[in-house]
Amino acid sequence: MSSPQTAAITAVHGWLPPDILSNADLEKMVDTNDEWIRTRTGISERRILKDPEKATSDMVAKVIEGLCEQRGMKATDIDLVIVATVTPDMFFPSTAQLACHKAGASNAWGFDLSAACSGFLYALRTGGQFISNGTHKKVVVVGSDKMSSIVDYTDRTTCVLFGDGAAGVLLEADPTGETGIQDAILRSDGAGGEYLRMQGGGSLNPASAASIEAKMHYIEQDGRPVFKAAVTSMADVSYEIMERNGLTGDDISWLVPHQANLRIIDATANRMGVTRDKVMINIEKYGNTTAATIPLCLWEWQNRLTPGENLILSAFGGGFTWGSIWLKWAMSPKA
Ligand code: UT7
Repeated sequence: MSSPQTAAITAVHGWLPPDILSNADLEKMVDTNDEWIRTRTGISERRILKDPEKATSDMVAKVIEGLCEQRGMKATDIDLVIVATVTPDMFFPSTAQLACHKAGASNAWGFDLSAACSGFLYALRTGGQFISNGTHKKVVVVGSDKMSSIVDYTDRTTCVLFGDGAAGVLLEADPTGETGIQDAILRSDGAGGEYLRMQGGGSLNPASAASIEAKMHYIEQDGRPVFKAAVTSMADVSYEIMERNGLTGDDISWLVPHQANLRIIDATANRMGVTRDKVMINIEKYGNTTAATIPLCLWEWQNRLTPGENLILSAFGGGFTWGSIWLKWAMSPKA
């Protein structure tokens, strides 16, 4: 008989670099303007990790430390760390190993997971399985990206969109199954790969003078097809998870969408019948932090959430990858 226990979020923490890159700053770097960026995307500023000595794993380590403090546990209590990222410090060792070492999580195993902007949802689903099947007690799932390391700051079509940041959650069992992850739908379609990618540095195009010359070490995006696919797929999958669980817009306390574009977020909320006041939106301050957007929202909103509330987490990103997770919040607001 399968266990009824679910994976519940029992701590949440985020970390953002202090340096701000505003739309006004970008106006001085490329041919763009504040009005275009705000009306087309909803972004006003983003954070940049400027310290050349720091990378994605340093942000993950900060998140792990924050989770430990919030939960009143030691890093050595953690069993598994999954890091969703497309900007690992390096191919190997994995960012998870580097971050565990930095945070003192010496009893944990871990790995990186690459699913671009859907990375946190893929990782949350994966980490949740280790809890619900009873093999692990404390699983940390972090989305962390130093997008500034792969953004071409001469390309106005991408450099206005992305920022750096990290956030994550601790998963533990709810033996009653009443809170935590209730359902998940995750999808992918490699046919969309060509529209959003970074081609250089891998086994197809190893780093070379020619690959650098061709700017293959930067993110490239054909915005319109990605936008079209995102609007439809994120809305569809969010509606599907509600429908198959008999949920209506009124049952949903919060939509927690990936923060790529305010227009994509609005399309998703409309399809779900969820009003704007129930949608977590912080794209204005941080831009698209790729795998970090959804947990950053949870971190910022945690004191407004109460146990038992229905949250729908939804994302769309490179791959293409997309999906939706329905979870019931487990934590009480901080006193
Ligand atoms: O998170 C991962 C998944 N990614 C996404 O979900 C992103 C999906 N795509 C988008 O959000 C949008 O496509 C963008 C925000 C990237 C672009 O918005 P858009 O409304 O699709 O604009 P567009 O690409 O159709 O470009 C419209 C115009 C073009 O000029 P012309 O050809 O009409 O003269 C662009 O050259 O805007 C121009 N443009 C800019 N103008 C000022 C493109 N980038 C900029 C810019 N500043 N930064």
